[in-house]
Amino acid sequence: MAIKRFGVSLDELVLGELDELVTKHQFPNRSQAIRYLIKSHLIADNWEENRDVAGTVTLLYDHHKRDISGQSNDIQHDHHHLVLSMQHIHLDHNNCLETITLKGRASELIDLSDKLIGMKGVKHGKLVMSSLD
Ligand code: NI
Repeated sequence: MAIKRFGVSLDELVLGELDELVTKHQFPNRSQAIRYLIKSHLIADNWEENRDVAGTVTLLYDHHKRDISGQSNDIQHDHHHLVLSMQHIHLDHNNCLETITLKGRASELIDLSDKLIGMKGVKHGKLVMSSLD
């Protein structure tokens, strides 16, 4: 298969984490590490897609930036049929930690979590799903 090159922009912190992953898994280079991350993400997506699942999305963000909590609220209202509860913790002067508990079709939860985690300014976000069957 033809190999294509593309440019990736990462902040130094994330690049450092990528290099740690390269070392930890003894990948020959960063490309191999990125390939590994993409593949494992796709496998998880395919496996879960059509199942009914319960899950949580965890978000960490600076509430001074871009009214992220307002945006998060809007997105959750647009998907209220999936949202069971939401907890917002003011971690310190800047940082907020939100945990949103969800239930529904895995593909819908993935779509919703992509919207939440993809909000500009989110420092870290992760979806965890548990199958109900
Ligand atoms: Ni807060």
